[in-house]
Amino acid sequence: MDIRLLDAEPTSEERAAVDAAIGPPTSAWDGGERGSDRDAHTATGGASMGGRRHELLPALQALQARVGWISEGGLGYVCERLNVPPADAWGVTTFYALFATTPRPKRVLHVCGDIACVARGAHDVDHALETRCGPPISGAPAGDSVVIDESRGAWMHSPCLGMCDMAPAAFLTVAGENPIERLYGGVTGERAVELLRMTAPHAGSSASPPIPQRGDPSLVLLKRVGEVDPTSLGAYRAVGGFRALATAIEMGPEAVIAEVVASKLGGRGGAAFPTGRKWEAVRAQAVRPHYLVCNADESEPGTFKDRLLMTHDPFAIVESMAIAGFATGCSTAFLYVRAEYPLAFARIENAVRQCREAGLFGDGFDIQLRRGAGAYICGEETALFESIEGKRGEPRRKPPFPVLVGLFGKPTVVNNVETLANVIPILLEGGAAFARTGTEQSTGTRLFCLSGAVERPGVYEVPFGTSLRSLLELAGARDLKAVLLGGAAGSFLRPDEIDLPLSLEGAHAASTTLGSGVIMAFDQSTDLHEVVRRIAGFFRDESCGQCVPCRVGTVRQEEALHRIAHGKTLGGVAGELALLEEVGVAMRDASICGLGQTAYAAVESAIKRLRLYEVTG
Ligand SMILES: Cc1cc2nc3c(=O)[nH]c(=O)nc-3n(C[C@H](O)[C@H](O)[C@H](O)COP(=O)(O)O)c2cc1C
Ligand code: SF4
Ligand code: FES
Repeated sequence: MDIRLLDAEPTSEERAAVDAAIGPPTSAWDGGERGSDRDAHTATGGASMGGRRHELLPALQALQARVGWISEGGLGYVCERLNVPPADAWGVTTFYALFATTPRPKRVLHVCGDIACVARGAHDVDHALETRCGPPISGAPAGDSVVIDESRGAWMHSPCLGMCDMAPAAFLTVAGENPIERLYGGVTGERAVELLRMTAPHAGSSASPPIPQRGDPSLVLLKRVGEVDPTSLGAYRAVGGFRALATAIEMGPEAVIAEVVASKLGGRGGAAFPTGRKWEAVRAQAVRPHYLVCNADESEPGTFKDRLLMTHDPFAIVESMAIAGFATGCSTAFLYVRAEYPLAFARIENAVRQCREAGLFGDGFDIQLRRGAGAYICGEETALFESIEGKRGEPRRKPPFPVLVGLFGKPTVVNNVETLANVIPILLEGGAAFARTGTEQSTGTRLFCLSGAVERPGVYEVPFGTSLRSLLELAGARDLKAVLLGGAAGSFLRPDEIDLPLSLEGAHAASTTLGSGVIMAFDQSTDLHEVVRRIAGFFRDESCGQCVPCRVGTVRQEEALHRIAHGKTLGGVAGELALLEEVGVAMRDASICGLGQTAYAAVESAIKRLRLYEVTG
């Protein structure tokens, strides 16, 4: 590994940004002034500095937010401060899409080019920007020759921004002493040009997201959304907030876990693992400390339910984390939010602060917040641990599983935001009562993210077992051509397949998956070939590159789909489909993590269920 020090000096602006994020240096050995008596006699660093590695991402985020990109001088200063070899830090910096390593204008508009936004006019936004502001910039390093024109700003394409309910979406970042980050929905071409050209710091904000079932008395997880002030602990307590934590403390940790087991709550992050069993396993570990991680990375295209919960009911997420930490013996909890959710992050940060100040966490428990930096793979639980630890988000091989060896090598409970939110009704009603809603194997209600060709897009809460057809009708699906269930890692269904019950059993029987609750509808006007190519492009972009089947397979898959699209097949369409199958099976069977294992799923369903490529053959 290259451990040479970088020659370039940081600017005063870069120093200030890093110092504000990780504190000022304490001696000449970590980037401060030389001269104190202590410096003359003692060297600090090495192992004693290793404990600060987890501050690498926050330090890089501070540079990016202040300057708009991460220069050699800035990176070198971070390396000096945290004692990280420059080559290692460079590897981390270049892993995350929201870090730039070449000069960039301070104002950048990230325009969603993913499927739900394309289905609702994202191409028009691209066209307006391209004709009036010039071509998009690329995320890839572009050398040192980039000419910065600060008056113009820059725009670039982004994968799903988690705002498909208000598609088309865009994410604005303005670097500076008071950086701006804002997620916008309902973006038109005109609005996008305005956002990019505006020089005033305040660019307005998005309207509230649509909550189609607002006021429905059957809502459980969404009942406070839009009804209770999400910024006030008092307002949350006035509607019964923190009663569940008080109940948990009265019951004791074992009884809490017994209720969660009795509820048969399954994880809502995609894998549907029984939550109670996970909690039991961590509680039983003698090794200390235990960690709790709330996975709020939510980057599966078409998923936006966790954003809604965090933005509009943040105290409930904080309360449920306190309960989970209490039950499983975790002293420190981390909540990792994707970078593109600045409002959700601010609301959660405010909720954590108010609860901490009110003494609601009790002794020995606290919640730390972390932000992603633009990497879908960091939603995979072990990649997320790596990211919190200040490394590239590369998934670990399992076993060992996180309940034994997780964050910082310690027993770790990792749960999705929606999973944790269910803990409150479980404690208030009892696990058995909770299990009476839904089906035998899929208990409780589930949040589904409806987007695409529906009249009323948004997050819907229904009991497990509700039919896909009735949910599509509720959302006003029209003129259906296909439905994507479970997101990019899920599969397409034909209009004649939508009577399936939305439960784990129902999805399994229909050889599909509910995944993270994505239901994306496509009408007759949709070019499904383009949608499938976009999904393939997404996996190619987001593969961490660590294992060959996924790194190579996702590229080969996309290439074959492009050859079919351009009529330049190798061996005809049949030959390309055979190649896709071979590559897909290799990815599914030999990849390290779920990304590679599911990268062929949607493509396969387009081939076999929709028979999308038959007419071309
Ligand atoms: C590529 C990939 C991305 C994932 N992204 C997320 C995510 O954004 N949010 C999430 O909760 N789980 C995600 N998961 C699932 C997590 O690995 C893990 O199963 C989940 O956080 C566990 O919580 P749960 O049991 O409450 O569902 C992802 C998995 C894979 C393979
Ligand atoms: S399957 Fe893909 S994303 Fe997962 S570890 Fe391998 S290369 Fe990385
Ligand atoms: S926000 Fe654009 S597809 Fe999700």
